[in-house]
Amino acid sequence: MKSELDFFVIKAKENGVNVIGLTRGTETRFHHSEKLDKGEVMIAQFTEHTSAVKVRGKAVIYTKHGEVDTES
Ligand code: TRP
Repeated sequence: MKSELDFFVIKAKENGVNVIGLTRGTETRFHHSEKLDKGEVMIAQFTEHTSAVKVRGKAVIYTKHGEVDTES
């Protein structure tokens, strides 16, 4: 995996935030789910396996395009 792939940061604002990775390619399905508790941070990349990410729960997401937070 190339380390220069885009990465992003997710910071949980409550317990039990889910970060769900969706597969790249013709079939789009969940392949990984990570649970974050309040204050926990996940740093992740878009990879050959992951083309989309769904964040469920209160969190702030930082990308090179800016930051966005989920609403509850
Ligand atoms: N094995 C996955 C991959 O290389 C791990 C992963 C990367 C991931 N980015 C993610 C999992 C974002 C969940 C969300 O693609």
